[in-house]
Amino acid sequence: MKKLLFIGDVVGKTGCRFLAAHLHDLKARLGADIVVVNGENSENGNGVSRSSADSIIKAGADVMTSGNHAFRYKDELSVYDEDYIIRPANYPEGGAPGKGVCLLDMGPYSVAVVNLMGTVCLEPLDNPFTVIDALLEGIGTPNIFVDFHAEATSEKKAMGHYLTGRVTGVFGTHTHVQTADEMILGGHTAYITDAGMTGPELSCLGAEIGPVLENFRFRTPARFKTATTPCFLCGVCVEFDEKSGKSHKIDRVIIR
Ligand SMILES: [Fe+2]
Ligand SMILES: [Fe+2]
Repeated sequence: MKKLLFIGDVVGKTGCRFLAAHLHDLKARLGADIVVVNGENSENGNGVSRSSADSIIKAGADVMTSGNHAFRYKDELSVYDEDYIIRPANYPEGGAPGKGVCLLDMGPYSVAVVNLMGTVCLEPLDNPFTVIDALLEGIGTPNIFVDFHAEATSEKKAMGHYLTGRVTGVFGTHTHVQTADEMILGGHTAYITDAGMTGPELSCLGAEIGPVLENFRFRTPARFKTATTPCFLCGVCVEFDEKSGKSHKIDRVIIR
């Protein structure tokens, strides 16, 4: 039996620092073998840079996933040349940097991490449901974990049901609020609609409340800044059988 710890969207430098301060101890306490972290908000609250991705990997992540903010910093796109940093697999082929799958060689077994993005209320990428079908045909391990970065709970639930029995885990990200619906689908697939976020807790999804309120009240443009309130870390820990790729247990994790 092995354990994988998945951590939801890390927001800003303050979120990166909180991750670095807690991940080592958390990994030891849970007995996690593998750590996957979503870092799409790690640079300046939105986007990914070389230094923000490095800080997540140095903190102890084996793989960093991303999402709709993956390509926000044009000068930092070479970070996606790294094997262990991925972006949604359903970007149209031919132009987007990087790749959407990372294969981790763990010696006696291997683990694939797939990043996908929903298309409801997000950019019109290729259909994640057909893209994952094609991808799964080429993955040579039963241990497959999917970070499904999506806005709509319906799309995330649907993906969980679609991949039941076909992957080890489906974890929703992007909405930054941890849901309480963790379960093992079909006795095989660990699922949660959203793993939550890692960053300032008293905030609007990690951003300072004032400018967000101004934007909602008056519809005037406002510059969002990462909040400076104390951080929390949200994620899930999954216990799985590395020979069959079946999950046995999923637990929510919150560190304050
Ligand atoms: Fe995010
Ligand atoms: Fe996102």
